[in-house]
Amino acid sequence: MQTVSLLSFVSVVIVLATSYCDAFTRNDFPEHFLFGAATSAYQWEGAADEDGRTPSVWDTFSHSDERGNGDIACDGYHKYKEDVKLMAEMGLEAFRFSISWTRLIPNGRGPLNPKGLTFYKNLIKELRGHGIEPHVTLYHYDLPQVLEDEYGGWIDRKIIKDFTAFADVCFREFGDDVKLWTTINEANIFAIGAYSEGILPPGHCSTNKLVNCSIGNSSTEPYIAGHNLLLAHASASKLYRLKYKSKQRGSIGFSIYAYGLSPYTNSEDDGIATERAKDFFSGWMLKPLVFGDYPEVMKRILGSRLPVFSEEESKQVKGSSDFVGIIHYTTIYITNSKPTPSLLPSNRDFFTDMGVETIFIGNSSFFTFDTIPWGFESVLEYLKQSYNNPPIYILENGLPLKHDSTLQDSERVEYTQGYIGAMLNAIKNGSDTRGYFLWSVIDLYELLAGYKSSFGLYYVNFSDPGLKRSPKLSASWYTGFLNGTIHVDPPKLSASS
Ligand SMILES: *[C@@H]1O[C@H](CO)[C@@H](O)[C@H](O)[C@H]1NC(C)=O
Ligand SMILES: *[C@@H]1O[C@H](CO)[C@@H](O)[C@H](O)[C@H]1NC(C)=O
Ligand SMILES: *[C@@H]1O[C@H](CO)[C@@H](O)[C@H](O)[C@H]1NC(C)=O
Ligand SMILES: *[C@@H]1O[C@H](CO)[C@@H](O)[C@H](O)[C@H]1NC(C)=O
Ligand SMILES: *[C@@H]1O[C@H](CO)[C@@H](O)[C@H](O)[C@H]1NC(C)=O
Ligand SMILES: *[C@@H]1O[C@H](CO)[C@@H](O)[C@H](O)[C@H]1NC(C)=O
Repeated sequence: MQTVSLLSFVSVVIVLATSYCDAFTRNDFPEHFLFGAATSAYQWEGAADEDGRTPSVWDTFSHSDERGNGDIACDGYHKYKEDVKLMAEMGLEAFRFSISWTRLIPNGRGPLNPKGLTFYKNLIKELRGHGIEPHVTLYHYDLPQVLEDEYGGWIDRKIIKDFTAFADVCFREFGDDVKLWTTINEANIFAIGAYSEGILPPGHCSTNKLVNCSIGNSSTEPYIAGHNLLLAHASASKLYRLKYKSKQRGSIGFSIYAYGLSPYTNSEDDGIATERAKDFFSGWMLKPLVFGDYPEVMKRILGSRLPVFSEEESKQVKGSSDFVGIIHYTTIYITNSKPTPSLLPSNRDFFTDMGVETIFIGNSSFFTFDTIPWGFESVLEYLKQSYNNPPIYILENGLPLKHDSTLQDSERVEYTQGYIGAMLNAIKNGSDTRGYFLWSVIDLYELLAGYKSSFGLYYVNFSDPGLKRSPKLSASWYTGFLNGTIHVDPPKLSASS
């Protein structure tokens, strides 16, 4: 780390550090707070072409390179009883998972697949039977390939109707036993990764030289997809409120990926760049949801490339999220990038539009993260102060480590302690955070890393035909924390240096 970044880093820590006091336990959290862990359908279930499931864009994308795929994954489709049992033994209070659209509705719209329906009903029943609260994500990167082929998926407004019909089936069939729904998983990173950078399914881009951009338009599609994601969420939310909420009494939220963002230097330019980055990364989705329109800075920079909400759409989007789901892993520095006036709008993408450079802190990279609890606390403070203190669920947080058989994942335990402590600080200072899900329950097929690195509390031996699960140190640590016997020291300043 360079001197200049160290200086700004120290000043940030001093501002953010509250008076960390004594050790805490699970019992220091509000009574109805939920602690759990998460998976998603394509990463956990396997059985990709069994019992009537058809391919999603993620199946297609993962089969186009050598990083592995979710054909078998953890075989959760067949092993769900075993996995729910180990969740119960771990003491999980909640489980976050997603519903595979093409397992439930193989043609994207129309007839249901009875075997898919039975699988999710059985899974939910098994969870309830063990006293575990289900938190269901409707869309986690796995659009039916048939809808992508038919009209381009999320870049066409036809998706709004099809997504709402899929949501309707889920509310109707599962809503008596599911009280927590997230419509869209990390919508901002999905739109950026899938339509600006081409690194996530369905892999559209036009500017990223590192991947083969054979289809897409990085200067327009991320914003079109983002707009349709918001409208699809709002439409599903409206339906839930009209048709189901009074009877089922659940809540429905949208989710975004939130980096901690901190200026690289204390220059005015880097300060302004960091505010702009907050607007591009988070405000893009949260300002419409909370205030009914996009951030001014995005409208100014993007001009006609940013879709416009009609008055009616704005009203429908505003207030459509009962809570904000947050996916948070790490904190990055932001520095202003030099203006590139020669870059035509048609050659821009999300990052050149945002006009900042992002710098990982310490040893962090796309595949490893340093433990930076103060960055997490600052995200929760920012959400509280800038968006009227919305109810929040932390839907993912966790540490990736090389996937191997080392069960002594003490770095993961240290990371988790720091982040849970940071969250407690934010709650004590007024944040309305209501739940926390570790990513992930067991080692999964990972979005970027395939099977090379993993986040599980349980190790999965992917070379073993039986895909044996074995608890890591982090699993027994979590159990002890959740049963109140493990006391945790609050995060210290040195934990982030
Ligand atoms: C605690 O909340 C208050 C009110 O929102 C805010 O001014 C203050 O900066 C927060 N403290 C920390 C340590 O974030
Ligand atoms: C890029 O994709 C196109 C279209 O699929 C294909 O024809 C071409 O061979 C690919 N090039 C590389 C370098 O992968
Ligand atoms: C992207 O779309 C814009 C607006 O339609 C157009 O001007 C531009 O040429 C397109 N870029 C590519 C790479 O297709
Ligand atoms: C970065 O990695 C080095 C070497 O593994 C380690 O000694 C150091 O503690 C790490 N730094 C942080 C901030 O984790
Ligand atoms: C994983 O499974 C393979 C095949 O059954 C076995 O040879 C290997 O020892 C197992 N590895 C671990 C760490 O248990
Ligand atoms: C609490 O969890 C720990 C595992 O960390 C376990 O050893 C202990 O028996 C549990 N205690 C109770 C009271 O459940």
